[in-house]
Amino acid sequence: MKKKISLLMCLVLIFSAFTGCDINFNGITPTTEGSTTAAVEAAVTEKASTAQAATAATATITMTTTTTTTAATTTTTTATKPTTTKKTTTKAPTTMPTTKVPEKIEKPDTDRIKDDDKVIALTFDDGPSKYTARLLDILEENGAHATFFVLGNRAKNNSELLKRMLDEGHEIGSHTWDHTSFAKLSYNSALENMNKATNAIKKASGKKPVLVRPPYGAMSDSLKYAATMQGQAIITWSVDPRDWDTKNPDTVYNKIMSNVSDGDIILCHDIHKSTVDAMERVIPDLLDEGYTLVTVSELLTYERDELTAGKVYSKRKN
Ligand code: NI
Repeated sequence: MKKKISLLMCLVLIFSAFTGCDINFNGITPTTEGSTTAAVEAAVTEKASTAQAATAATATITMTTTTTTTAATTTTTTATKPTTTKKTTTKAPTTMPTTKVPEKIEKPDTDRIKDDDKVIALTFDDGPSKYTARLLDILEENGAHATFFVLGNRAKNNSELLKRMLDEGHEIGSHTWDHTSFAKLSYNSALENMNKATNAIKKASGKKPVLVRPPYGAMSDSLKYAATMQGQAIITWSVDPRDWDTKNPDTVYNKIMSNVSDGDIILCHDIHKSTVDAMERVIPDLLDEGYTLVTVSELLTYERDELTAGKVYSKRKN
């Protein structure tokens, strides 16, 4: 019996030397230990042949090796994943790039302003919405024109409305992709956001926007950088009736009519029914007061040869 045990031990040790595995009869894990001990015991106490015992031990060794390898692989994967994915996406330039010369934006080819005209640019942000079609009807009935600063993420599903705007002589500007404030955006994020909006608007309307209005009017170097790279002038406003706040057609009407003067850019939002209701009176009354209602590009380029991408404009002369 002692001879048999010695033979079995030798076999196992020889096998271990060949495979490079550590065999510890005191066990690495409970499972391994159990199997190995069982194999040895089978050989010792019972009449199992040497060959059978060796096979059982081999199976145990193989299992141990596989388990170890799998564990090692899993550990490697989880350890390296976070570092490789995060390092490549967070780098952004920290200064204004100087490689791109600010692009000149050419005058629109419309000629709707006469020399002695008083002009106003009505602008509508955040849309299009379910109220935009009615606003277009009102503008059409009055022979008036406006500028729509649309959100890139609303452009895709409103292709017909956007095409109608251009067909009827209005202008479409970008209001960025998703109304994120650009106040603290990195250069890369600002450019990515604006580029996504430009592409969506161009695809839906057929024309690339040359104006951008920053959400909340928030200014930053990254906004100016992205606008420059996109070839878009930055448009703010000179009259703000705060239509999103009051949501009352009479208040909106009074705030516009009492503050407006020649060359103003008026900030409104075509996502509120109250604003479109107000326009039923604002538009014909402005016309009665002798104003011509034109697009932002028409208003700004009447006394300029062209606009400059990345530069901020808030009214006719500024
Ligand atoms: Ni907005």
